[in-house]
Amino acid sequence: MKGLVLSGGKGTRLRPITYTSAKQLVPVANKPVLFRVIEAIRDAGIDDIGIVIGDTGDEIRSAVGNGKRWGVRITYIPQETPAGLAHAVKISRDFLGDERFVMFLGDNCIQGGISPLIQQFGQSDFNAQIVLKQVSDPRSFGVAELDDNGRITRLVEKPREPLSDLALVGIYMFDHHIWEAVHAIRPSPRGELEITDAIQWLVSNGYLVYPYIHEGWWIDTGKKDDMLEANRLILEEMSGSVQGYVDRDSQIIGKVIIEPGAEIINSTIRGPAIIGEKTRILNSYVGPFTSIYHSCLIEDSEIEHSIMLEHSAVRGLPHRLEDSLIGRNVEVARSPLKPKAYRLMLGDNSSVGVL
Ligand code: DAU
Repeated sequence: MKGLVLSGGKGTRLRPITYTSAKQLVPVANKPVLFRVIEAIRDAGIDDIGIVIGDTGDEIRSAVGNGKRWGVRITYIPQETPAGLAHAVKISRDFLGDERFVMFLGDNCIQGGISPLIQQFGQSDFNAQIVLKQVSDPRSFGVAELDDNGRITRLVEKPREPLSDLALVGIYMFDHHIWEAVHAIRPSPRGELEITDAIQWLVSNGYLVYPYIHEGWWIDTGKKDDMLEANRLILEEMSGSVQGYVDRDSQIIGKVIIEPGAEIINSTIRGPAIIGEKTRILNSYVGPFTSIYHSCLIEDSEIEHSIMLEHSAVRGLPHRLEDSLIGRNVEVARSPLKPKAYRLMLGDNSSVGVL
């Protein structure tokens, strides 16, 4: 079997961070979501992986490379415009050939990996298998309806009135019949070739399409709060380890990972939390569910339930920072300048909550 990861698209919901970079490379628990996807596919025994890339392709190529680091082979498949998930499949024909394959959306995080489902599909005669998860509000996903025997009868993309509470998780398995389907369908009202429509085509034409109901957690990390939730869930599953320097005046409580080269000086870190390589925490408090990436500085401040990307600094804040996603090379600091005022340099679509 081969693997196909979709990492094109626009990432509009994570702006302004995704104005300058790929949403799939935003880290949760200090590892880009895309790396977690590659590892899940590799752990399921697949070592030939194609990655569909768009505008942010150069950044993805330089972050991922040829895949050697994971013991896999990566082939990049450029997509000129983000014309839909089924379009991304269509342009991957040369890479995939007629083999069975798993497609994994590069911004999805799933608990427990995909080995059981790959095994089930590999041994079955199903033409397609889709992963479903019960969610409380399915309106922002593809939604599936099943009959009494558990077979899929109908699929609708982002329905206003959902037929069920079963959302399509961004993991799909197909055999060669998907090629007929992606050629048969037409663009949806949002102008995209929808994979949901291609799967509906398979169902309508009598092919065997079965669900795999996922019981663990699943997060589509497209928005800030989802990113924070994925961060929380992954941190909870990790075990602590201190590889950096912690001085005698600091306290490490609970599950905390301190990566090599990090320095904790006169500070308290309450886990679950992760502090990246070469990051310095000085006279500060880092609370639960926080991931600070590499080469950052937190000084005379408090931060909790947040993600901070590389080369950013937080200094001298009079109040705790919470529920925040801080991008790269960002500085948040108390200003000594008079008159006393907020002085901001924010990108488009930024959002700031002041006290
Ligand atoms: O996350 C699960 C949902 O993913 C499913 O429930 C929906 O049925 C499915 O259509 C999809 O919906 P989204 O609207 O969340 O898809 P999004 O546009 O965020 O794209 C998902 C990934 O695929 C993302 O990593 C970008 C990439 N992509 C997207 C498009 C439209 C491409 O590589 N090429 C594309 O043309």
